[in-house]
Amino acid sequence: MKNDENRLDRRSFLGGAIGAAGAFSAATMLPPLVHAQPIPRPAWMPLDHPAPASGGTTFKPLRAEVEVRDCVVEGKIPDDLNGGFYATGPDPQYPLAKGNIIFDGEGHVRMFRIKNGRVDYRTRYARTERYVAQDKARRSLMPMYRNPSMDDPSVKGLSRSTANTHVINHKNLILALKEDSPPCALDLNTLETVDPVYTFDGELPRDRPFTAHPKVCSVTGNIVAFGYEAEGFGSDVVAVFEIDKQGKKVWEAKIRVPYVGLLHDFAVTENHIMFFVIPLAIDHEQMKRGGIHWSWDPTKKTYLGYMRRYGDGKDIKWVEGPTRSGTHTMGAFEDKGKLYFDTEITAGNPFPFMPNRDGSPPDYEAATSYIHRLSLNVNGRNKSYGFEKMYPLIAPLPRQDDRYNTMPYRYGFMACPDPNEPDRRKAGACYARVDNQTRTFELWNAGPNVALAEPVFAPKHPKAREGEGYLMGVAYHINENMRSDLVILDAEHLKDGPIAIVKLPVQASPQVHGWWVREDQYPA
Ligand SMILES: [Fe+2]
Repeated sequence: MKNDENRLDRRSFLGGAIGAAGAFSAATMLPPLVHAQPIPRPAWMPLDHPAPASGGTTFKPLRAEVEVRDCVVEGKIPDDLNGGFYATGPDPQYPLAKGNIIFDGEGHVRMFRIKNGRVDYRTRYARTERYVAQDKARRSLMPMYRNPSMDDPSVKGLSRSTANTHVINHKNLILALKEDSPPCALDLNTLETVDPVYTFDGELPRDRPFTAHPKVCSVTGNIVAFGYEAEGFGSDVVAVFEIDKQGKKVWEAKIRVPYVGLLHDFAVTENHIMFFVIPLAIDHEQMKRGGIHWSWDPTKKTYLGYMRRYGDGKDIKWVEGPTRSGTHTMGAFEDKGKLYFDTEITAGNPFPFMPNRDGSPPDYEAATSYIHRLSLNVNGRNKSYGFEKMYPLIAPLPRQDDRYNTMPYRYGFMACPDPNEPDRRKAGACYARVDNQTRTFELWNAGPNVALAEPVFAPKHPKAREGEGYLMGVAYHINENMRSDLVILDAEHLKDGPIAIVKLPVQASPQVHGWWVREDQYPA
């Protein structure tokens, strides 16, 4: 284990960072679980607060790069499970400034490399330009979330990426993503950073933001992506583009959004692209006061936009809907002239640690996410968009079998509190598989005092049918100082419990999102 904590007095670090820490779970945008009262900002989570047993994202800082060869395994790793489970999350390099949020922590990338029944574990901070500059200066140089006016002058012109949100693989690289910047490219096997500002060999401009939620086309394997605020800080232009497997840009269009808001995810179908604009809007006044990029503006409406794929973007249409939020896509498809966009939806500000523009306190109930199906007619007039709640599961980070990113799909996967326990403070964390055909779901409850991170699906082989494979995710043991396990379940028999448990001797690095790389996707 390599530990760099001696760079700072430990107490001063923890004192500063713990407000940004905690075994929080974005499901924890799920604060209704445990937070009876609003958390005073800037505290992300009170020091004495128990970690919620829930599902989603975990943010307790680690600040140590870890390698474990031949992890202890309980049970047996299936013979047909070979590949790598990668994830990233914010792990602040230096204490967060007052008023800053955990989303500004530096990306810490980890890998469970599974092969022939053995598991090696490795983590590395992404050596972004920001990380390297701060490491040299031994202090934070970009102290406020997406507010460059607060930057130290020495970092002018550097990429502000933290690489802390999501990872995908491309050409034997792991691309660690942050939506305000280009990807940061890491070696697939070692996680050493090979290019902190990855432009696909010049196919994209160096200042082009790149979404943390690209889709891999189910037909072509192309990466379909977008960048918002694409023509300078605060611009209302969104660039939408497609990169083929060799890294060549094969399509690009530009559109304008009704207003500049958080555009975290999107939906791609065979022929169309959809965006959901939500009232977490850019707040220039707040930034002038030294605050973060966004605030929740309850006077704004949502807009569901749809456009043709491979068009010039001029056909984009926006359909207005009520004030609400939606940040993560489970799946999307088109069928008989209709577009369907399955996404988690909250009634209000999904991130209670981000300010409300009207000064109102955080509303944790309004931040609770449920999967909804939004729908539109491709050719007809849409006075509003269709809106249907699909499941009673609180699940801000839904996933699917990623081979179905852009086509009709049946199954979704997620971490969520147990819906059978009415008292959310007692509800254990579950992994769930939902079946959109029967509208039923199956659960595995991890038991008390466990926080589950977002799971990932691994097919048994490249041609396995949808959902035939393994669901895996990291379980953080709250009463063991967050010591973590990787749990591996048969995705078609979740309720039978884990087939294998990979035991780490330490806490796993924090996680937002993860990605599975199949064995056949590694270089020979
Ligand atoms: Fe996300």
